[in-house]
Amino acid sequence: MIKQTSVFVRLGEQSYEIEIGIGNLASIGSPIQKLNPSKLFLIYDENVVMHFQVVQELLCEIISEVHSHKVASGEASKCIGVANELWDFLSRHQADRNSMVVAIGGGVVGDLAGFVAATYARGVPFFQIPTTLLSHVDSSVGGKTGVNLPSAKNMVGAFWQPAGVLIDTQTLSTLEDREYVSGLAEVIKYGLIMDEPFFEKLEANVAGLKHRDADLLVDVIAHCCRLKANVVEEDEKETLGRRAILNYGHTFAHAFESVLGYGTYLHGEAVAVGMLCAGSLAKKMGRVNQAFCDRQEELVRKVGLPVKVDRTDIQPLIDVMKRDKKNVSNRIRFILPTGIGSVELVDAPIKKELIESVFNEFFE
Ligand SMILES: NC(=O)c1ccc[n+]([C@@H]2O[C@H](COP(=O)([O-])OP(=O)(O)OC[C@H]3O[C@@H](n4cnc5c(N)ncnc54)[C@H](O)[C@@H]3O)[C@@H](O)[C@H]2O)c1
Ligand SMILES: [Zn+2]
Repeated sequence: MIKQTSVFVRLGEQSYEIEIGIGNLASIGSPIQKLNPSKLFLIYDENVVMHFQVVQELLCEIISEVHSHKVASGEASKCIGVANELWDFLSRHQADRNSMVVAIGGGVVGDLAGFVAATYARGVPFFQIPTTLLSHVDSSVGGKTGVNLPSAKNMVGAFWQPAGVLIDTQTLSTLEDREYVSGLAEVIKYGLIMDEPFFEKLEANVAGLKHRDADLLVDVIAHCCRLKANVVEEDEKETLGRRAILNYGHTFAHAFESVLGYGTYLHGEAVAVGMLCAGSLAKKMGRVNQAFCDRQEELVRKVGLPVKVDRTDIQPLIDVMKRDKKNVSNRIRFILPTGIGSVELVDAPIKKELIESVFNEFFE
């Protein structure tokens, strides 16, 4: 029997189901038919043509009007210019609130198409078929959509929950290894921030994770979606602070991405080293012991993620961390561990020398 499971994201009228399986793209017709759109607008990444064609063929059998638009791969597509092309695409074919936008691709196409759906005609239903590990475990839950400004990532956007999500782990078969491994950083993050038994399961299954064991992946992805859904259900719009725990490792990661250049390190690679930095800072502040840091680093290393970044000037890194839009009153906000499976938001002033010594530890 084909392995299949689902995660229900409980958000009142915006509740939706995430279906996760092996080869379940073949049954995409079923959730779409239930949602009963009059027209479909498929927006897909140029690198997932193979998966897009499967979806298109199946959906053309059940919906009379299906339009498609290809988006160039890469973060640069997540911009207002491409959003504008997509609004125009919807308008040319008279999309309305009975239509549905379907995104097929990684987080870039998901965020972009979701933003276009959120804003066109003040909101058109949106369905997601994420195709990278990162988008399976992260962007498929939470309803954050948006585009980048030249000066700031994800600065323009909207909360817009999808009407449904379908995750087929077989879409990962075409994903490059480096992209796949990068997604594992977010998987490890869930264990570290909120679930020690899950972290142990990852430790026990490194080989399966590296080889993309299909059954294991369905369980792991579903578990990550459930964990993120638990956080999002408590704090949908990020007003209570609870959602901040999902940013573990990200304060450092954003600094690496922005100073060393987006593209030098993939997001998950930067997050991997960022989590090690957060662990080290926590250790220097007496919040965790060396054993915690060792265990965290060992799993990161074993799955094939980097544990260091290229040496660079420290001041620009600190400057980026100070500009983070999640900071309050000019203090850098850190999510710091207290042990495997638990983290805390720390807003207290932290000595600059301490942060410098952390960076120095994680330069090549
Ligand atoms: N909305 C959210 O909650 C949320 C959460 C995390 C990240 N994000 C956003 O997601 C983006 C990163 O997502 P990503 O890592 O998926 O990047 P991505 O969408 O750029 O995909 C990574 C690369 O893989 C290619 N690709 C995608 N699926 C493929 C497949 N099945 N086979 C072969 N190639 C494939 C893409 O063309 C691209 O080159 C960022 O913009 C980030 O801000 C959003
Ligand atoms: Zn992330």
